[in-house]
Amino acid sequence: MFSFLAAGAEGAGVNPWVALAYLVAGVLFILALRGLSHPTTSLAGNRYGMAGMLIAVVTTLITHDIANIVEIGIAIFLGGIVGFTIARRIAMTAMPELVAAFHSLVGLAAVLVGWAAYLNPGAFGILDAAGDISPVSRVEMGLGIAIGAITFSGSVIAFAKLSGKLSGSPILLPGRHVINLGTLVAILVLTGLFATAAASGTMPLIVALTVAAFAIGFLLIIPIGGADMPVVVSMLNSYSGWAAAAMGFTLGNTAMIITGALVGSSGAILSYIMCRAMNRSFISVIAGGFGADASAGGGEAREARPYKQGSAEDAAFMLKQAENVIIIPGYGMAVAQAQHALREMCDLLEEQGVNVKFAIHPVAGRMPGHMNVLLAEASVDYDKVFELEDINSEFAQCDVAFIIGANDVVNPAAKTDKSSPIYGMPVFDVDKAKQVFFIKRSMGGVGYAGVDNDVFYMDQTMMLLADAKKMVEEINKSLGH
Ligand code: TAP
Repeated sequence: MFSFLAAGAEGAGVNPWVALAYLVAGVLFILALRGLSHPTTSLAGNRYGMAGMLIAVVTTLITHDIANIVEIGIAIFLGGIVGFTIARRIAMTAMPELVAAFHSLVGLAAVLVGWAAYLNPGAFGILDAAGDISPVSRVEMGLGIAIGAITFSGSVIAFAKLSGKLSGSPILLPGRHVINLGTLVAILVLTGLFATAAASGTMPLIVALTVAAFAIGFLLIIPIGGADMPVVVSMLNSYSGWAAAAMGFTLGNTAMIITGALVGSSGAILSYIMCRAMNRSFISVIAGGFGADASAGGGEAREARPYKQGSAEDAAFMLKQAENVIIIPGYGMAVAQAQHALREMCDLLEEQGVNVKFAIHPVAGRMPGHMNVLLAEASVDYDKVFELEDINSEFAQCDVAFIIGANDVVNPAAKTDKSSPIYGMPVFDVDKAKQVFFIKRSMGGVGYAGVDNDVFYMDQTMMLLADAKKMVEEINKSLGH
């Protein structure tokens, strides 16, 4: 049925139908990224991505000499079942570590494809007239293997740190900057030698290149603290894209080049956006250190200071009197799965004429868009949800700032305390609100950065100490009366 696609696929030029199919897949991937940038269009975005991937995979399968289509079918089927099961079971809060684990597989795949092309270049059509792998293909292969190996080992460390299998604190080796720089230079030199050496002498070079790249992945990520891990995960996402693009050049596969470049550049842009949201420079994240201070802050004994504690009834009473309420959700709302109860609270307050808005910090929760996804799941209207820069000026006019499971993103130390590990991160100006309600389970618990928060002790703050879902359900009961 697809003979028009297969015809000429192995010929000298690129079959225009294949090029067209890959182009359509590329356009669908771009539409997918565009769709995923907003909750209302994200479902359509996902569908575009799935359609693009289907076109790319089917086109590749029917236009290449496949050694054993049954084996490939079984592999796709088994991989599909594993992916489907993991996606169904994974808790939203464990998503960053799942993403890190999946990136490690992308990196490993790039290394394996690179090695397969090296060991059997004829099958990949990368031999020159003299029967050698051309120098250009060797550079692409070397870079693909190196980036893939760095992505693999770096992602394994990121996964271990995020899932708590390895301490989130930075592990600082003595002389690490010199070791890292030396290893990076060695990788570049080895790639150069691999590209220019006589065919018979390339094996030790590619082995050394692979080992050095695996090592630098571990070395680069081990000194980075837990608080910087989201940036690391999106940076590794970017690397995995560039590894795929490099392999796309080796294999002459346009779809892989387009997809790799899209993943590489979108990952880099996301890393930049997250760095900006935390007021961190990309270089300082890579050099490590932020997490070191953060974990030190968490370990300190905190002096007991007076605070006011209230009940759900108190909160409900005051919420009913308010004109404007701004809700700031954070990681604790996700842990408690309080989003549905919160939506109900929002409905009850609106019935009583209260104006309710949601304020979302770019790094609230544990992954980009974490709060938006949960609020969308609870059918909160998108036009009630505002980003930091759009709502921060409204706290001065709001009657109640309702903080639910957030902590670091409302900590004024980020504005005032130069020694704080979160200093410089833009935060919500909740201290300007007339009343602050702060839901968390105990006074002992700290946020991700492990530091105390002056908001707990302000005159206008009422601490609501309980599980977020239970507390909001209690408030709803009182509001219903
Ligand atoms: P956090 O600062 O981590 O604070 C979470 C708060 O939720 C804590 O005060 C905790 O106190 C409370 N909590 C936990 N479970 C709860 C429950 N069941 N019920 C009620 N409260 C509960 O959260 P945030 O303000 O969202 O800040 C996010 C932090 O994570 C930032 O430092 C950010 O840099 C970092 N980070 C972000 C990302 C991304 S991309 N979003 C990824 C990784 C890390 P108790 O223990 O006392 O309850």
